[in-house]
Amino acid sequence: MPRTKIAGIGKYVPEKTVTNDDLAKVMDTSDAWIQERTGIKERHYAAPYKETSATMGVKAAAIAIERAGITAQDIDFVIFATLSPDYYFPGCGVLLQRIMGMREIGALDIRNQCSGFIYSISIADQFIKTGMYKNILVVGAEVHSFGLDFSNTGRNVTVIFGDGAGAVVLQATEKENQGILSTHLHSDGNGAELLSMMNPGFHGGIHLKDESKKAAPPTELYGGVFITPEEKLAHDFYPNMDGQSVFKKAVEKFPEVIMEALQTNGLQPSDINILIPHQANLRISQFIQQKMKLRDDQVHNNIQQYGNTTAASIPIALCEAWELGKIKEGDLVCLAAFGSGFTWGSALLRW
Ligand SMILES: CC(C)(COP(=O)(O)OP(=O)(O)OC[C@H]1O[C@@H](n2cnc3c(N)ncnc32)[C@H](O)[C@@H]1OP(=O)(O)O)[C@@H](O)C(=O)NCCC(=O)NCCS
Repeated sequence: MPRTKIAGIGKYVPEKTVTNDDLAKVMDTSDAWIQERTGIKERHYAAPYKETSATMGVKAAAIAIERAGITAQDIDFVIFATLSPDYYFPGCGVLLQRIMGMREIGALDIRNQCSGFIYSISIADQFIKTGMYKNILVVGAEVHSFGLDFSNTGRNVTVIFGDGAGAVVLQATEKENQGILSTHLHSDGNGAELLSMMNPGFHGGIHLKDESKKAAPPTELYGGVFITPEEKLAHDFYPNMDGQSVFKKAVEKFPEVIMEALQTNGLQPSDINILIPHQANLRISQFIQQKMKLRDDQVHNNIQQYGNTTAASIPIALCEAWELGKIKEGDLVCLAAFGSGFTWGSALLRW
């Protein structure tokens, strides 16, 4: 059976750079606090009314397609991962298909947040290996900045996230020493609300463990969705995060899922040429590096410049590492992600 290779890769980040000092002008935070806890120095924000996840995804995709030496007409299937879609529905996949003038191919949207890109390439890998599709475009794109709370209430979340897009074209390869070796996907819904944006949603509070909130009758219709006053007060129209719980689970699951990938292929951490961890927090990446005894040149981080770009973070970092000449043919590349859901996963590939 053939394997799946990355035939082309691209990234796009919006022009506007927002520094920690810029954020400190609108909320009680500081460059020192943000850098110490997260490693982030700046992030990019999309231009309102001009850019969206779909349009940024198109820009990254155009580069990936060109580098693969094909055209948008050659793409057989699109997988688009985002938690910040242009529309509640339909998804961004069809918008990209329309903007890029693609054929009437399948377009699938993935809602797996920070692990969206790993889930997406895992799905694409199955289609390629079975011969169902020849050229699959996988895109991860986010416009967090349009939906963040810039008041003090939201500062723990807002300082972390940035906007951007990354894309890859996947194709079959018959080469011995090339392609995706394995992918590994996991979830634990017990942490669903710990990193979430629960509205607009159609849940009426039924998943909440707090019985008093559950019992509250829906009293307001907001954008077609019933919400309780408690939900509105609870800030549920913005992303919510229990940072410490997320941190603890992330540092447990990242090394676990990387080891799962290595062991499946009879490999060890020292065999990794480059690890691209989802850029959640520089402290999390450093913890993984230390735990796995990896040298600095075996890990690529860029959260310092981009913040956490969720589904876009791995393809942006992978593209950057490749553009910097850090990845060569035959290198063992490990991708790993953890995030909202909780969902997490890894992929091991030979470049
Ligand atoms: C978000 C995170 C940086 C917060 O760091 P932390 O050490 O856990 O901080 P806490 O939430 O305990 O807050 C500590 C204090 O800082 C304050 N604080 C929160 N955000 C702040 C900010 N942006 N600036 C300044 N102070 C802030 C809190 O209000 C709290 O104040 P208090 O002690 O007076 O109550 C950290 O928990 C984290 O990185 N978690 C993982 C997040 C992540 O990776 N998410 C994405 C997963 S894909």
